[in-house]
Amino acid sequence: MANEAIVVHTPDEMRHLSYEWRAGGEVVGLVPTMGALHEGHLSLAERAREECGKVIVSVFVNPTQFGEGEDFDTYPRDLDRDRKLLSDAGCDAIFTPGVAKMYGEGPTDLSSGERTFVEAGSLGEVFEGKDRPGHFRGVSTVVAMLFNSAVPHRAYFGEKDFQQLKVIEKMARELQMGIEIVGCQIVREPDGLAMSSRNANLSPEEREAARVIYRSLKTGANLAEGGEGDVSAILREMRKVFGEEPLAPLKYIAVVDAETLEPLETLGEGPARVLAAARVGDVRLIDNISLPSAL
Ligand code: PAJ
Repeated sequence: MANEAIVVHTPDEMRHLSYEWRAGGEVVGLVPTMGALHEGHLSLAERAREECGKVIVSVFVNPTQFGEGEDFDTYPRDLDRDRKLLSDAGCDAIFTPGVAKMYGEGPTDLSSGERTFVEAGSLGEVFEGKDRPGHFRGVSTVVAMLFNSAVPHRAYFGEKDFQQLKVIEKMARELQMGIEIVGCQIVREPDGLAMSSRNANLSPEEREAARVIYRSLKTGANLAEGGEGDVSAILREMRKVFGEEPLAPLKYIAVVDAETLEPLETLGEGPARVLAAARVGDVRLIDNISLPSAL
């Protein structure tokens, strides 16, 4: 049984603790999360545990990355359970500031022009950013705030949110943050559905329908592995799979360059990725898969 993780409620206390650790020669790793933890999150914490002397996991449901009418209020929250899981996983600190400690008492609306924020640039305007205006402004801003609070050497993000990972890598690079961003593989349920806190909000029927996402991605990956390099042919087959599941309407599916997220017409020039989003009931689900880089 591991020691209880320390629970930290304010950015100042978090920074203080991190500086203490750093002064003692420790490498500090941060895993940003919104809680309702599952094995996907825990895999990030385990990776951080292997590579860092001290591991901080932040648990903060960030209001500024949710749009109007999105699921901020219904986003699952269970801090007691999260705390236990993270202590068992050997994490050293849980940073859980709450909205007022993080943003102060004022408005959290980043589009009002009153607050300082980090703008993600064009990479944050496509796919998730197009469907969810302001989403990556909220993500980049809160991740910068988490970095300023936890002062990590390394920070761990899942490929599950592939566009987010690319946006954060770019932010850390372009703003000279001096933090190594580590991307970690997607953890899936046995039937292929990518683990997500939002899966808890699916009815049994919707959960069954959600399987179509991985089925479609796998169809695309298999075609590419079999030598198909024509992206429109791959997309056609993937869309066909989605067409068989009326409960999971597709929001977008695209084959993109894995660094720039620019849509591709043919495969074979470098790493490529399929990005997909679907709406199952009231739940927005995203997933992605890599395609072979050389045909
Ligand atoms: P959240 O959705 O809680 O995810 C926290 C981290 O866990 C992200 O880096 C995400 O990509 C990763 N993750 C989620 N499901 C995963 C899975 N099945 N396999 C591997 N990794 C997975 O992403 C956020 O929170 C927020 O946007 C945040 C970065 C914390 C900023 O608020």
